[in-house]
Amino acid sequence: PVLVVDFGAQYAQLIARRVREASVYSEIVPHTITAAEVAAKQPAGIVLSGGPSSVYEEGAPSFDPAIFDLGVPTLGICYGFQVMANALGGVVSKTGAREYGSTDVRVTDAGTLLAEQPADQTAWMSHGDSVTQAPEGFDVLASTSSTPVAAFASDERKLYGVQWHPEVKHSAYGQAVLENFLHRAAGIPADWNSENVIEQQVTAIRAQVGTGRVICGLSGGVDSAVAAALVHKAVGDQLTCVFVDHGLLRQDEREQVEQDYVASTGVRLVTVDASDVFLSALAGVTDPEEKRKIIGREFIRTFERAQADLVAEAAADGDPIRFLVQGTLYPDVVESGGGTGTANIKSHHNVGGLPEDLNFELVEPLRTLFKDEVRAVGRELGLPEVIVSRQPFPGPGLGIRIIGEVTRERLELLRKADAIARHELTAAGLDGEIWQCPVVLLADVRSVGVQGDGRTYGHPIVLRPVSSEDAMTADWTRLPYDVLARISNRITNEVEGVNRVVLDVTSKPPATIEWE
Ligand code: XMP
Repeated sequence: PVLVVDFGAQYAQLIARRVREASVYSEIVPHTITAAEVAAKQPAGIVLSGGPSSVYEEGAPSFDPAIFDLGVPTLGICYGFQVMANALGGVVSKTGAREYGSTDVRVTDAGTLLAEQPADQTAWMSHGDSVTQAPEGFDVLASTSSTPVAAFASDERKLYGVQWHPEVKHSAYGQAVLENFLHRAAGIPADWNSENVIEQQVTAIRAQVGTGRVICGLSGGVDSAVAAALVHKAVGDQLTCVFVDHGLLRQDEREQVEQDYVASTGVRLVTVDASDVFLSALAGVTDPEEKRKIIGREFIRTFERAQADLVAEAAADGDPIRFLVQGTLYPDVVESGGGTGTANIKSHHNVGGLPEDLNFELVEPLRTLFKDEVRAVGRELGLPEVIVSRQPFPGPGLGIRIIGEVTRERLELLRKADAIARHELTAAGLDGEIWQCPVVLLADVRSVGVQGDGRTYGHPIVLRPVSSEDAMTADWTRLPYDVLARISNRITNEVEGVNRVVLDVTSKPPATIEWE
Protein backbone atom coordinates (compact mmCIF):
# COMPACT_ATOMS: atom_id res chain seq x y z
CA PRO A 1 0.00 0.00 0.00
CA VAL A 2 0.78 3.69 0.06
CA LEU A 3 0.62 4.86 3.67
CA VAL A 4 -0.98 8.22 4.35
CA VAL A 5 0.31 9.55 7.65
CA ASP A 6 -2.40 11.40 9.54
CA PHE A 7 -1.21 14.43 11.48
CA GLY A 8 -4.63 15.00 12.96
CA ALA A 9 -6.14 17.50 10.55
CA GLN A 10 -8.95 16.67 8.15
CA TYR A 11 -6.68 16.14 5.16
CA ALA A 12 -5.59 12.51 5.47
CA GLN A 13 -8.84 10.99 4.23
CA LEU A 14 -8.91 13.30 1.26
CA ILE A 15 -5.32 12.40 0.36
CA ALA A 16 -6.09 8.70 0.73
CA ARG A 17 -9.01 9.12 -1.67
CA ARG A 18 -6.94 11.02 -4.21
CA VAL A 19 -4.29 8.28 -4.11
CA ARG A 20 -7.03 5.72 -4.80
CA GLU A 21 -8.25 7.93 -7.66
CA ALA A 22 -4.77 7.49 -9.10
CA SER A 23 -5.52 3.71 -9.00
CA VAL A 24 -3.15 3.04 -6.10
CA TYR A 25 -4.27 1.42 -2.86
CA SER A 26 -3.82 3.63 0.20
CA GLU A 27 -4.17 3.22 3.96
CA ILE A 28 -4.28 5.86 6.67
CA VAL A 29 -1.88 5.42 9.59
CA PRO A 30 -1.37 7.58 12.72
CA HIS A 31 1.66 9.89 12.95
CA THR A 32 2.84 7.91 15.96
CA ILE A 33 3.73 4.96 13.73
CA THR A 34 7.35 3.83 14.17
CA ALA A 35 9.91 3.09 11.49
CA ALA A 36 9.72 -0.62 12.37
CA GLU A 37 5.93 -0.62 11.97
CA VAL A 38 6.20 1.16 8.64
CA ALA A 39 8.83 -1.30 7.44
CA ALA A 40 6.59 -4.22 8.44
CA LYS A 41 3.87 -2.93 6.13
CA GLN A 42 6.28 -2.88 3.19
CA PRO A 43 4.74 0.27 1.72
CA ALA A 44 5.34 1.27 -1.89
CA GLY A 45 5.20 4.90 -0.83
CA ILE A 46 4.38 7.26 2.02
CA VAL A 47 2.47 10.55 1.97
CA LEU A 48 2.68 12.88 4.95
CA SER A 49 -0.52 14.87 5.33
CA GLY A 50 -1.12 18.44 6.40
CA GLY A 51 -1.72 19.24 10.03
CA PRO A 52 -1.32 22.13 12.46
CA SER A 53 0.27 25.29 11.14
CA SER A 54 3.72 25.00 12.73
CA VAL A 55 6.26 22.30 13.57
CA TYR A 56 7.31 24.49 16.50
CA GLU A 57 3.84 24.67 17.99
CA GLU A 58 3.40 23.33 21.51
CA GLY A 59 2.32 19.70 21.17
CA ALA A 60 2.90 19.64 17.41
CA PRO A 61 2.43 16.02 16.27
CA SER A 62 5.65 14.08 16.22
CA PHE A 63 7.03 11.77 13.56
CA ASP A 64 9.74 9.12 13.71
CA PRO A 65 12.57 10.59 11.57
CA ALA A 66 14.05 7.11 11.01
CA ILE A 67 11.18 6.56 8.56
CA PHE A 68 12.99 8.88 6.14
CA ASP A 69 15.91 6.42 6.13
CA LEU A 70 13.87 3.38 5.10
CA GLY A 71 14.32 4.08 1.41
CA VAL A 72 10.55 4.28 0.88
CA PRO A 73 9.56 7.06 -1.57
CA THR A 74 7.91 9.77 0.52
CA LEU A 75 5.93 12.91 -0.28
CA GLY A 76 5.42 15.55 2.39
CA ILE A 77 2.43 17.86 2.07
CA CYS A 78 2.10 21.19 3.92
CA TYR A 79 2.80 20.28 7.56
CA GLY A 80 4.30 17.00 6.32
CA PHE A 81 6.61 19.03 4.06
CA GLN A 82 7.81 21.05 7.03
CA VAL A 83 8.25 17.95 9.15
CA MET A 84 10.43 16.51 6.42
CA ALA A 85 12.44 19.73 6.04
CA ASN A 86 12.92 19.98 9.79
CA ALA A 87 13.98 16.33 10.22
CA LEU A 88 16.50 16.39 7.38
CA GLY A 89 18.36 19.57 8.30
CA GLY A 90 16.44 22.18 6.33
CA VAL A 91 15.26 25.42 7.90
CA VAL A 92 11.64 26.13 8.82
CA SER A 93 11.09 29.75 9.83
CA LYS A 94 8.39 31.96 11.18
CA THR A 95 8.40 34.48 8.34
CA GLY A 96 5.22 36.07 9.61
CA ALA A 97 3.81 35.80 6.10
CA ARG A 98 0.79 33.60 6.43
CA GLU A 99 -0.58 32.21 3.17
CA TYR A 100 -4.13 30.99 3.09
CA GLY A 101 -6.29 30.10 0.09
CA SER A 102 -5.47 30.29 -3.60
CA THR A 103 -1.85 31.29 -4.10
CA ASP A 104 0.29 31.79 -7.21
CA VAL A 105 3.10 29.27 -7.43
CA ARG A 106 6.14 29.64 -9.71
CA VAL A 107 7.76 26.39 -10.83
CA THR A 108 11.48 27.03 -11.28
CA ASP A 109 12.76 23.46 -11.72
CA ALA A 110 10.01 20.94 -12.44
CA GLY A 111 12.06 17.81 -11.77
CA THR A 112 10.10 14.57 -11.54
CA LEU A 113 7.47 15.85 -9.13
CA LEU A 114 6.23 18.81 -11.17
CA ALA A 115 7.02 17.37 -14.60
CA GLU A 116 4.79 18.51 -17.45
CA GLN A 117 3.20 21.26 -15.44
CA PRO A 118 2.91 24.95 -16.30
CA ALA A 119 5.52 27.25 -14.77
CA ASP A 120 2.81 29.42 -13.24
CA GLN A 121 -0.08 27.82 -11.46
CA THR A 122 -2.45 28.43 -8.58
CA ALA A 123 -2.42 26.16 -5.59
CA TRP A 124 -4.24 25.99 -2.28
CA MET A 125 -2.14 27.01 0.71
CA SER A 126 -2.77 27.02 4.42
CA HIS A 127 0.33 27.67 6.48
CA GLY A 128 2.03 30.06 8.88
CA ASP A 129 5.66 28.89 8.93
CA SER A 130 7.67 28.51 5.75
CA VAL A 131 10.61 26.40 4.65
CA THR A 132 13.34 28.96 4.02
CA GLN A 133 16.11 26.52 3.23
CA ALA A 134 15.81 23.04 1.73
CA PRO A 135 17.80 20.19 3.33
CA GLU A 136 21.24 19.58 1.84
CA GLY A 137 21.19 17.72 -1.45
CA PHE A 138 17.58 18.73 -2.19
CA ASP A 139 16.56 20.72 -5.26
CA VAL A 140 14.16 23.63 -4.81
CA LEU A 141 11.37 23.19 -7.36
CA ALA A 142 9.01 26.09 -6.78
CA SER A 143 8.38 29.27 -4.80
CA THR A 144 5.68 31.83 -4.08
CA SER A 145 5.97 35.55 -3.43
CA SER A 146 6.40 34.95 0.28
CA THR A 147 7.74 31.39 0.42
CA PRO A 148 11.18 30.82 -1.12
CA VAL A 149 10.93 27.03 -0.88
CA ALA A 150 7.40 25.94 -1.86
CA ALA A 151 8.49 22.51 -3.14
CA PHE A 152 11.65 20.42 -3.00
CA ALA A 153 12.94 17.06 -4.10
CA SER A 154 15.75 14.58 -3.80
CA ASP A 155 15.41 12.07 -6.61
CA GLU A 156 18.34 10.19 -5.15
CA ARG A 157 16.65 9.63 -1.77
CA LYS A 158 13.16 9.58 -3.33
CA LEU A 159 12.00 12.26 -0.91
CA TYR A 160 9.66 15.01 -2.11
CA GLY A 161 7.62 17.81 -0.63
CA VAL A 162 5.17 20.57 -1.47
CA GLN A 163 3.97 23.39 0.74
CA TRP A 164 0.55 23.49 -0.96
CA HIS A 165 -2.31 21.02 -0.78
CA PRO A 166 -2.36 18.95 -3.99
CA GLU A 167 -5.31 16.90 -2.69
CA VAL A 168 -7.61 19.91 -2.79
CA LYS A 169 -9.49 20.61 -6.03
CA HIS A 170 -8.56 24.31 -5.83
CA SER A 171 -4.97 23.30 -6.59
CA ALA A 172 -5.13 23.34 -10.37
CA TYR A 173 -2.49 20.62 -10.94
CA GLY A 174 -2.80 18.90 -7.59
CA GLN A 175 -3.81 15.47 -8.81
CA ALA A 176 -0.95 15.61 -11.32
CA VAL A 177 1.51 16.23 -8.46
CA LEU A 178 0.22 13.17 -6.63
CA GLU A 179 0.33 11.07 -9.80
CA ASN A 180 3.85 12.24 -10.64
CA PHE A 181 4.92 11.21 -7.17
CA LEU A 182 3.16 7.85 -7.24
CA HIS A 183 3.83 6.74 -10.80
CA ARG A 184 6.96 8.57 -11.93
CA ALA A 185 8.95 9.11 -8.75
CA ALA A 186 7.94 6.03 -6.77
CA GLY A 187 7.23 3.86 -9.82
CA ILE A 188 3.98 2.48 -8.39
CA PRO A 189 1.73 0.97 -11.08
CA ALA A 190 -1.85 2.17 -11.48
CA ASP A 191 -3.50 -1.16 -10.85
CA TRP A 192 -6.02 -0.64 -8.05
CA ASN A 193 -9.46 -0.90 -9.64
CA SER A 194 -12.92 -2.34 -9.06
CA GLU A 195 -12.09 -5.64 -10.72
CA ASN A 196 -9.18 -6.23 -8.34
CA VAL A 197 -11.24 -5.17 -5.35
CA ILE A 198 -13.95 -7.65 -6.27
CA GLU A 199 -11.47 -10.43 -6.83
CA GLN A 200 -9.71 -9.78 -3.51
CA GLN A 201 -12.92 -9.49 -1.55
CA VAL A 202 -14.45 -12.61 -3.03
CA THR A 203 -11.34 -14.55 -2.02
CA ALA A 204 -11.37 -13.01 1.47
CA ILE A 205 -15.09 -13.68 1.99
CA ARG A 206 -14.73 -17.32 0.93
CA ALA A 207 -11.80 -17.74 3.30
CA GLN A 208 -13.73 -16.22 6.20
CA VAL A 209 -17.10 -17.85 5.64
CA GLY A 210 -16.20 -21.27 4.27
CA THR A 211 -19.43 -23.23 3.93
CA GLY A 212 -21.16 -21.20 6.69
CA ARG A 213 -24.47 -19.44 6.28
CA VAL A 214 -24.71 -15.68 6.13
CA ILE A 215 -27.45 -13.10 6.70
CA CYS A 216 -27.57 -9.48 5.49
CA GLY A 217 -30.01 -6.65 6.09
CA LEU A 218 -30.69 -4.56 2.98
CA SER A 219 -31.70 -0.93 3.47
CA GLY A 220 -32.28 0.04 -0.14
CA GLY A 221 -29.10 2.11 -0.03
CA VAL A 222 -25.81 1.63 -1.84
CA ASP A 223 -23.64 0.15 0.91
CA SER A 224 -25.72 -2.79 2.00
CA ALA A 225 -26.62 -3.55 -1.63
CA VAL A 226 -22.99 -3.71 -2.73
CA ALA A 227 -21.86 -5.59 0.38
CA ALA A 228 -24.54 -8.22 -0.15
CA ALA A 229 -23.76 -8.51 -3.87
CA LEU A 230 -20.10 -9.16 -3.07
CA VAL A 231 -20.96 -11.81 -0.53
CA HIS A 232 -23.41 -13.38 -2.94
CA LYS A 233 -20.77 -13.49 -5.65
CA ALA A 234 -18.46 -15.22 -3.18
CA VAL A 235 -20.79 -17.76 -1.55
CA GLY A 236 -24.05 -17.71 -3.53
CA ASP A 237 -27.08 -19.10 -1.72
CA GLN A 238 -25.29 -19.43 1.59
CA LEU A 239 -26.47 -15.79 1.86
CA THR A 240 -29.99 -14.70 2.75
CA CYS A 241 -30.94 -11.02 2.62
CA VAL A 242 -33.62 -9.40 4.76
CA PHE A 243 -35.36 -6.22 3.68
CA VAL A 244 -37.57 -4.44 6.20
CA ASP A 245 -40.27 -2.31 4.58
CA HIS A 246 -41.13 0.13 7.36
CA GLY A 247 -43.69 1.93 5.23
CA LEU A 248 -41.53 5.07 5.24
CA LEU A 249 -39.81 4.40 1.92
CA ARG A 250 -40.05 6.55 -1.16
CA GLN A 251 -41.96 5.63 -4.29
CA ASP A 252 -40.68 2.50 -6.06
CA GLU A 253 -37.89 1.81 -3.55
CA ARG A 254 -39.27 -1.53 -2.45
CA GLU A 255 -39.68 -2.64 -6.05
CA GLN A 256 -36.15 -1.54 -6.85
CA VAL A 257 -34.86 -3.91 -4.21
CA GLU A 258 -37.33 -6.76 -4.69
CA GLN A 259 -37.28 -6.75 -8.47
CA ASP A 260 -34.32 -4.93 -10.01
CA TYR A 261 -31.74 -5.77 -7.37
CA VAL A 262 -32.77 -9.38 -7.01
CA ALA A 263 -32.89 -9.81 -10.79
CA SER A 264 -29.40 -8.42 -11.25
CA THR A 265 -27.75 -10.29 -8.38
CA GLY A 266 -29.82 -13.44 -7.85
CA VAL A 267 -29.74 -13.03 -4.06
CA ARG A 268 -32.26 -14.87 -1.92
CA LEU A 269 -34.43 -12.13 -0.38
CA VAL A 270 -36.93 -12.13 2.43
CA THR A 271 -39.05 -8.96 2.63
CA VAL A 272 -40.78 -8.14 5.88
CA ASP A 273 -43.73 -5.83 5.43
CA ALA A 274 -43.90 -4.04 8.76
CA SER A 275 -45.60 -0.79 7.77
CA ASP A 276 -48.62 -1.45 10.02
CA VAL A 277 -46.41 -1.97 13.04
CA PHE A 278 -44.43 1.22 12.37
CA LEU A 279 -47.48 3.35 11.68
CA SER A 280 -49.30 2.26 14.80
CA ALA A 281 -46.19 2.89 16.88
CA LEU A 282 -45.92 6.37 15.36
CA ALA A 283 -49.59 7.28 15.81
CA GLY A 284 -49.99 10.58 17.62
CA VAL A 285 -46.25 11.23 17.84
CA THR A 286 -44.93 14.60 16.67
CA ASP A 287 -41.64 15.02 18.53
CA PRO A 288 -38.69 14.44 16.14
CA GLU A 289 -36.45 12.59 18.60
CA GLU A 290 -39.31 10.42 19.77
CA LYS A 291 -40.10 9.53 16.18
CA ARG A 292 -36.49 8.61 15.53
CA LYS A 293 -36.37 6.45 18.66
CA ILE A 294 -39.58 4.64 17.80
CA ILE A 295 -38.49 3.97 14.22
CA GLY A 296 -35.08 2.76 15.39
CA ARG A 297 -36.59 0.51 18.04
CA GLU A 298 -39.18 -1.01 15.71
CA PHE A 299 -36.57 -1.55 13.05
CA ILE A 300 -34.36 -3.53 15.39
CA ARG A 301 -37.31 -5.56 16.66
CA THR A 302 -38.49 -6.35 13.16
CA PHE A 303 -35.03 -7.26 11.95
CA GLU A 304 -34.40 -9.43 15.00
CA ARG A 305 -37.67 -11.30 14.54
CA ALA A 306 -36.92 -11.99 10.88
CA GLN A 307 -33.43 -13.01 11.79
CA ALA A 308 -34.60 -15.31 14.59
CA ASP A 309 -36.97 -17.04 12.17
CA LEU A 310 -34.20 -17.57 9.66
CA VAL A 311 -31.76 -18.72 12.30
CA ALA A 312 -34.32 -21.21 13.66
CA GLU A 313 -35.08 -22.45 10.18
CA ALA A 314 -31.41 -22.85 9.37
CA ALA A 315 -30.66 -24.56 12.67
CA ALA A 316 -33.49 -27.01 11.99
CA ASP A 317 -31.61 -27.86 8.80
CA GLY A 318 -28.57 -28.46 10.98
CA ASP A 319 -26.81 -25.53 9.35
CA PRO A 320 -26.91 -22.48 11.63
CA ILE A 321 -26.33 -18.91 10.46
CA ARG A 322 -23.03 -17.73 11.81
CA PHE A 323 -22.25 -14.58 9.85
CA LEU A 324 -23.78 -11.13 9.46
CA VAL A 325 -22.86 -8.78 6.61
CA GLN A 326 -22.30 -5.12 7.47
CA GLY A 327 -21.72 -2.35 4.93
CA THR A 328 -19.10 -0.57 7.04
CA LEU A 329 -17.00 1.81 4.94
CA TYR A 330 -13.38 2.92 5.33
CA PRO A 331 -14.22 6.39 6.73
CA ASP A 332 -16.23 4.68 9.51
CA VAL A 333 -13.21 2.51 10.28
CA VAL A 334 -10.82 5.47 10.32
CA GLU A 335 -13.15 7.69 12.34
CA SER A 336 -13.76 5.06 14.97
CA GLY A 337 -10.01 4.76 15.36
CA GLY A 338 -9.86 1.13 14.32
CA GLY A 339 -7.22 0.58 11.70
CA THR A 340 -7.35 -3.19 11.74
CA GLY A 341 -9.45 -6.04 12.96
CA THR A 342 -11.79 -4.64 15.56
CA ALA A 343 -15.43 -4.64 14.54
CA ASN A 344 -17.12 -1.33 15.12
CA ILE A 345 -20.73 -0.87 14.17
CA LYS A 346 -21.64 2.75 13.49
CA SER A 347 -24.94 3.50 15.10
CA HIS A 348 -26.33 5.52 12.20
CA HIS A 349 -25.37 2.92 9.65
CA ASN A 350 -28.78 1.39 9.51
CA VAL A 351 -31.87 2.72 11.20
CA GLY A 352 -30.88 3.19 14.81
CA GLY A 353 -28.02 0.73 14.45
CA LEU A 354 -28.07 -2.98 15.09
CA PRO A 355 -28.04 -4.39 18.60
CA GLU A 356 -24.67 -4.88 20.21
CA ASP A 357 -25.18 -8.41 21.50
CA LEU A 358 -25.36 -10.03 18.08
CA ASN A 359 -24.23 -13.58 18.11
CA PHE A 360 -22.69 -13.30 14.71
CA GLU A 361 -19.28 -12.91 13.25
CA LEU A 362 -19.25 -9.82 11.05
CA VAL A 363 -18.44 -9.90 7.35
CA GLU A 364 -17.46 -6.42 6.20
CA PRO A 365 -16.38 -6.48 2.57
CA LEU A 366 -16.41 -2.67 2.21
CA ARG A 367 -14.12 -1.95 5.16
CA THR A 368 -11.29 -0.74 2.96
CA LEU A 369 -13.41 1.28 0.54
CA PHE A 370 -14.52 4.88 0.14
CA LYS A 371 -18.04 5.65 -1.01
CA ASP A 372 -17.13 6.39 -4.63
CA GLU A 373 -15.25 3.08 -4.78
CA VAL A 374 -18.30 1.26 -3.42
CA ARG A 375 -20.35 2.74 -6.25
CA ALA A 376 -17.72 1.71 -8.81
CA VAL A 377 -17.71 -1.85 -7.43
CA GLY A 378 -21.52 -1.88 -7.56
CA ARG A 379 -21.47 -0.85 -11.22
CA GLU A 380 -18.83 -3.47 -12.00
CA LEU A 381 -21.10 -6.07 -10.35
CA GLY A 382 -23.96 -4.94 -12.60
CA LEU A 383 -26.27 -3.55 -9.91
CA PRO A 384 -29.14 -1.28 -10.98
CA GLU A 385 -28.05 2.32 -11.48
CA VAL A 386 -30.95 3.61 -9.31
CA ILE A 387 -29.36 1.85 -6.36
CA VAL A 388 -25.70 2.43 -7.20
CA SER A 389 -26.09 6.17 -7.74
CA ARG A 390 -28.60 6.71 -4.96
CA GLN A 391 -28.16 9.89 -2.98
CA PRO A 392 -28.14 9.64 0.82
CA PHE A 393 -31.51 8.86 2.35
CA PRO A 394 -31.97 8.72 6.11
CA GLY A 395 -32.75 5.39 7.73
CA PRO A 396 -35.93 6.74 9.39
CA GLY A 397 -37.07 7.61 5.87
CA LEU A 398 -40.06 9.81 5.20
CA GLY A 399 -40.96 9.54 8.88
CA ILE A 400 -38.65 12.48 9.62
CA ARG A 401 -39.73 14.44 6.54
CA ILE A 402 -43.31 14.82 7.68
CA ILE A 403 -43.28 17.62 10.20
CA GLY A 404 -46.10 16.54 12.48
CA GLU A 405 -47.76 13.18 12.94
CA VAL A 406 -46.97 10.46 10.41
CA THR A 407 -50.03 8.95 8.78
CA ARG A 408 -50.61 6.77 5.75
CA GLU A 409 -52.36 9.59 3.85
CA ARG A 410 -49.57 12.06 4.54
CA LEU A 411 -46.96 9.51 3.47
CA GLU A 412 -48.85 8.96 0.24
CA LEU A 413 -48.94 12.70 -0.41
CA LEU A 414 -45.25 13.23 0.38
CA ARG A 415 -44.28 10.24 -1.74
CA LYS A 416 -45.95 11.82 -4.78
CA ALA A 417 -44.32 15.21 -4.24
CA ASP A 418 -40.92 13.61 -3.65
CA ALA A 419 -41.19 11.49 -6.79
CA ILE A 420 -41.98 14.59 -8.88
CA ALA A 421 -39.04 16.55 -7.45
CA ARG A 422 -36.63 13.66 -7.96
CA HIS A 423 -37.86 13.03 -11.48
CA GLU A 424 -37.46 16.67 -12.52
CA LEU A 425 -34.03 17.04 -10.93
CA THR A 426 -32.82 13.93 -12.74
CA ALA A 427 -34.40 15.03 -16.01
CA ALA A 428 -32.62 18.39 -15.72
CA GLY A 429 -29.31 16.57 -15.27
CA LEU A 430 -28.78 18.03 -11.79
CA ASP A 431 -28.14 14.86 -9.79
CA GLY A 432 -24.39 15.37 -9.97
CA GLU A 433 -24.65 18.87 -8.55
CA ILE A 434 -26.76 18.14 -5.52
CA TRP A 435 -25.78 15.99 -2.59
CA GLN A 436 -29.43 15.25 -1.88
CA CYS A 437 -32.75 17.07 -1.92
CA PRO A 438 -35.04 16.24 0.96
CA VAL A 439 -38.67 17.00 0.17
CA VAL A 440 -40.52 17.87 3.36
CA LEU A 441 -44.23 18.05 4.17
CA LEU A 442 -45.29 20.66 6.72
CA ALA A 443 -48.25 18.62 7.82
CA ASP A 444 -49.35 20.90 10.63
CA VAL A 445 -49.14 24.10 8.59
CA ARG A 446 -51.87 25.21 6.25
CA SER A 447 -52.15 28.22 4.03
CA VAL A 448 -54.77 29.73 1.76
CA GLY A 449 -54.58 29.29 -1.97
CA VAL A 450 -56.74 29.58 -5.04
CA GLN A 451 -57.04 26.80 -7.56
CA GLY A 452 -59.55 26.60 -10.39
CA ASP A 453 -62.32 28.84 -9.10
CA GLY A 454 -62.10 27.86 -5.51
CA ARG A 455 -60.30 28.68 -2.33
CA THR A 456 -57.95 26.00 -1.03
CA TYR A 457 -56.52 25.55 2.41
CA GLY A 458 -53.61 23.17 1.90
CA HIS A 459 -50.17 22.16 3.10
CA PRO A 460 -46.78 23.51 2.00
CA ILE A 461 -44.06 21.29 0.58
CA VAL A 462 -40.46 22.34 1.24
CA LEU A 463 -37.64 21.65 -1.21
CA ARG A 464 -34.28 21.32 0.52
CA PRO A 465 -31.60 20.90 -2.20
CA VAL A 466 -28.11 20.87 -0.69
CA SER A 467 -24.55 20.66 -1.95
CA SER A 468 -22.02 18.98 0.31
CA GLU A 469 -18.80 16.96 0.43
CA ASP A 470 -19.59 14.84 3.45
CA ALA A 471 -22.90 16.04 4.99
CA MET A 472 -21.02 17.56 7.94
CA THR A 473 -21.49 20.98 6.39
CA ALA A 474 -23.68 21.90 3.44
CA ASP A 475 -24.84 24.82 1.37
CA TRP A 476 -28.21 25.20 -0.29
CA THR A 477 -27.94 24.49 -3.99
CA ARG A 478 -28.74 27.33 -6.37
CA LEU A 479 -31.07 25.40 -8.63
CA PRO A 480 -32.10 26.97 -11.94
CA TYR A 481 -35.39 28.89 -11.63
CA ASP A 482 -37.00 27.04 -14.53
CA VAL A 483 -36.41 23.69 -12.81
CA LEU A 484 -37.82 25.03 -9.54
CA ALA A 485 -40.81 26.41 -11.43
CA ARG A 486 -41.47 23.06 -13.09
CA ILE A 487 -41.28 21.18 -9.80
CA SER A 488 -43.56 23.70 -8.11
CA ASN A 489 -46.14 23.63 -10.93
CA ARG A 490 -46.23 19.88 -11.08
CA ILE A 491 -46.48 19.36 -7.33
CA THR A 492 -49.29 21.88 -6.85
CA ASN A 493 -51.17 20.52 -9.87
CA GLU A 494 -50.65 16.83 -9.29
CA VAL A 495 -50.56 16.39 -5.53
CA GLU A 496 -53.91 16.96 -3.95
CA GLY A 497 -53.72 18.79 -0.62
CA VAL A 498 -50.61 20.79 -1.52
CA ASN A 499 -51.13 24.40 -2.63
CA ARG A 500 -47.68 25.89 -1.99
CA VAL A 501 -44.06 24.93 -2.62
CA VAL A 502 -41.27 26.71 -0.76
CA LEU A 503 -37.49 26.60 -1.04
CA ASP A 504 -35.17 26.19 1.95
CA VAL A 505 -32.25 28.61 1.52
CA THR A 506 -30.33 27.80 4.71
CA SER A 507 -26.82 26.37 4.90
CA LYS A 508 -25.67 23.78 7.47
CA PRO A 509 -24.84 25.08 10.00
CA PRO A 510 -27.03 26.64 11.31
CA ALA A 511 -29.72 24.30 9.92
CA THR A 512 -29.27 20.56 9.54
CA ILE A 513 -29.93 18.94 6.17
CA GLU A 514 -33.03 17.08 7.34
CA TRP A 515 -35.78 19.05 9.08
CA GLU A 516 -36.01 16.59 11.96
P1 XMP B 1 -28.44 16.15 9.07
O1 XMP B 1 -29.92 16.32 9.00
O2 XMP B 1 -27.95 15.74 10.41
O3 XMP B 1 -28.10 14.95 8.09
O4 XMP B 1 -27.72 17.37 8.55
C1 XMP B 1 -26.80 14.62 7.66
C2 XMP B 1 -26.89 13.46 6.70
O5 XMP B 1 -27.30 12.26 7.36
C3 XMP B 1 -28.52 11.78 6.83
N1 XMP B 1 -29.28 11.29 7.98
C4 XMP B 1 -29.38 10.00 8.34
N2 XMP B 1 -28.90 8.88 7.78
N3 XMP B 1 -29.89 7.58 9.48
C5 XMP B 1 -29.17 7.67 8.34
O6 XMP B 1 -28.76 6.63 7.82
C6 XMP B 1 -30.42 8.66 10.11
O7 XMP B 1 -31.06 8.55 11.14
C7 XMP B 1 -30.14 9.93 9.50
N4 XMP B 1 -30.48 11.21 9.82
C8 XMP B 1 -29.95 12.03 8.88
C9 XMP B 1 -29.14 12.96 6.12
O8 XMP B 1 -30.02 12.54 5.07
C10 XMP B 1 -27.92 13.67 5.59
O9 XMP B 1 -27.42 13.05 4.43
